[in-house]
Amino acid sequence: MSTDLQKPLNIVAVSGGLNFPSKTESLIQEIIDELSDATPVQVHFIKFSEIGSLLGGAIYRHQLPQRVQDDLAAVEAADALIVGTPVYRASFTGLFKHFFDFVEQTALVDVPVLLAASGGSDRHALVLEHQLRPLFSFFQAQTLPIGVYATDRDFNADYTIQSQSLRDRITLAIARALPVLEWAPAKGHRAEIVKAKTEQANANLGINKQIEQEEVLPSVAVPSLDAAESRLQQKHLDKTKTQVA
Ligand SMILES: Cc1cc2nc3c(=O)[nH]c(=O)nc-3n(C[C@H](O)[C@H](O)[C@H](O)COP(=O)(O)O)c2cc1C
Repeated sequence: MSTDLQKPLNIVAVSGGLNFPSKTESLIQEIIDELSDATPVQVHFIKFSEIGSLLGGAIYRHQLPQRVQDDLAAVEAADALIVGTPVYRASFTGLFKHFFDFVEQTALVDVPVLLAASGGSDRHALVLEHQLRPLFSFFQAQTLPIGVYATDRDFNADYTIQSQSLRDRITLAIARALPVLEWAPAKGHRAEIVKAKTEQANANLGINKQIEQEEVLPSVAVPSLDAAESRLQQKHLDKTKTQVA
C-alpha cells in the first residue's frame, strides 16, 4: 500500500457562524468527528465566531490580521475542505463570501469540498445547491455529492445535535465522501504546490484586484489515469502472486 494512503488527510473546516455558541459550528464539529472516526485526519478549524470581526474592514489580503492570512493559506493548502454557513437572507453570510473572495482563484482546483449549512427553516435547504455549490464550482473544486443541511429544530438548547435523522445524514455524507478523500494521492503535497500562490496572494490580492493567472494550478487532488492504472496493475500482480504461492 502506498504511504500516501496512510498519511492523515489535511482537512480544513470553515464555519461561517458568527455567534458563540453557533449551530453551524456544532454541525461542522459533528461532521469532523464522523470523518475522524472513519479515517486519519489532521484538522484546522476556522471559526467565524472567532475571526468574523477581523474580516470586515479589509479590501486587500495584506490588510488582514496575520491570523486570517494564515487561515487563507490553510484553505489553499488543504487536501479537502468542510465548509458551512448559517443561512442569512436565503444565502451564505456576507462575511463567508468575503472570506472566500480572498481565496486565490486557482488554489482549489479539484479539491474535494463537503458543503453544509444551518438555517431557521426547512425551506432554505437548497441553499446548498443554489448558493454554496455554484460558489465552489467557480473555484473548480470537487463539491461532494451529499451536503448536510440542519435547521434550528435539529439542535438542543445547548446547540448539541438532537436529531437522529441529521446524524444519519452526516454518516451518509461521510460514507459517500470517503472514497474520493482516501483515493486522493495528493495528501499533504498541495501545501508545497500552492505556497508560491499564497505568498503572491498575500502580497497583492484584494477583493477588487485579481491576480492575472496564465496557468491554472495543475490538478493534484485527483489521481491521473497513469496513477490509477499503476495501482490496478499492482493489485493484479499481488493477486497473481497469492494464487501462485
Ligand atoms: C440576519 C439573519 C438572517 C437569516 N436569514 C435566514 C433565512 O433566510 N433562512 C433561514 O432558514 N434562516 C435564516 N436565519 C436563521 C439562521 O440561519 C439560523 O438560526 C442558523 O442556524 C444560525 O446559525 P448559527 O447558530 O451558526 O449562527 C437568519 C438569521 C439571521 C441572524
